[in-house]
Amino acid sequence: MTTVSRRNVLSLGAALGLTGALAPTTAAWSWAPSGSIAGAGTGADPRWVWDDEIDQLMANLIDRGDTARTNKALLSWVNNNDPLPADVPADLRDWLHRKTRLPTWADPALLARSTDVSRRLDTHFFILYGVGGGIMSTVIPREAKSVYWSKGGADMQDRAAKTFAFGYDMAEIGGFTPRGQFLVTANKTRLVHAAVRHLLPQSPHWRAVADETIPISQADILVTFHSTGTFAHMKLKEWGFLKNKDDDRAFLHSWQVALSQLGVRDEYIPASWEDAEEQSRQVLTPILAPTPEGKKLAEELLNMPNSLTFGLSRGLLNEFTRYLLNDDIGDWLGLKRDYVAAALIRTAWPVYMAFRRGTIPFLPVAYYGLDQFIRAFAMAFLNKGKDVRTTPITIPDMNRPS
Ligand code: HEM
Repeated sequence: MTTVSRRNVLSLGAALGLTGALAPTTAAWSWAPSGSIAGAGTGADPRWVWDDEIDQLMANLIDRGDTARTNKALLSWVNNNDPLPADVPADLRDWLHRKTRLPTWADPALLARSTDVSRRLDTHFFILYGVGGGIMSTVIPREAKSVYWSKGGADMQDRAAKTFAFGYDMAEIGGFTPRGQFLVTANKTRLVHAAVRHLLPQSPHWRAVADETIPISQADILVTFHSTGTFAHMKLKEWGFLKNKDDDRAFLHSWQVALSQLGVRDEYIPASWEDAEEQSRQVLTPILAPTPEGKKLAEELLNMPNSLTFGLSRGLLNEFTRYLLNDDIGDWLGLKRDYVAAALIRTAWPVYMAFRRGTIPFLPVAYYGLDQFIRAFAMAFLNKGKDVRTTPITIPDMNRPS
């Protein structure tokens, strides 16, 4: 694996707005639990914390051959207030019954506000989670290797659509209420992660490249939160959005609840955006690096819109990725330069954002191309134009074969 020089790490941190004292990759966990939802904690390093109870339960379920039956039973479990289907194995039913509920500290009014923020900024989130978080995940080595060598890694279009279902349900008006779907989607995701922790260590391909024995620790989940949520927050602030303090807090709260539903302990969930940025500086910035798996995943992701003939040029996409992330990441992924597209984005994007903020009343006709760009991108990710919710999240029964 290519190692990241300290100079590269520093310049990446700066470009991602994550400047400050950067810890070396191997630094001990030192994020203060006083900055968490719990306000205190054991100080245990989350790189060594997984999700014990459900991990054991899913391992047993897979080993006794119950995966297909469980997936079939879970198909009809969609809304937060749906009863658990009778065919779900009893041990899993009991666990889901206890876990599929909002944490006691959740604030329903803030959650309702968060979905309103998502509705108002949906295009922005789409781009930030897709190009930003999606492509950034390919330079997070542990995530890239896990995704590549798991079953879903063989069909990135399907996987991207499923991952978007998570964001969609989180952003949907009423998503956290009994009639919404987010709690179910998040808990299905938690089951998938537990299954992957059991399956991936059995993959000789993953074992040959992994620097860990069990994937998807709580630290890894926090890393993904920072490459999506914290990154989106930073960019939105940079572009002049989220000026309203309650909107800002509501957006964070939706992620706090999401992390909790994914099994992250309260002592690791940041209480404020400042605490989140502090944690991100420690867990995300120093670990970014290219890997062969990540490069292949990035290629597949960036080729998706092209393959759908929505008229998107790969040059534009390469340069937009460089614009949102930075040139270090662009170079790591071997993204070919297109200087005309780069100049266009540098000029057009701030104007487009100003229009979306309402600071300019009309969008010059030439800029409507950006709307098309975003639509094309959306269609590519949403499973060849189908509704994301026709792509159910299912527990994998195997790894990527080769
Ligand atoms: C599956 C979301 C963190 C690796 C999924 C799925 C969703 C999801 C919605 C189900 C879709 C599917 O089956 O493909 C999230 C969110 C995260 C997170 C919201 C954190 C905020 C991580 C991390 C890793 C990871 C940190 C690895 C280091 C995987 C893998 C699968 C998966 C390997 C299974 C793919 C398959 O074989 O089907 N995740 N994830 N995820 N996730 Fe995550």
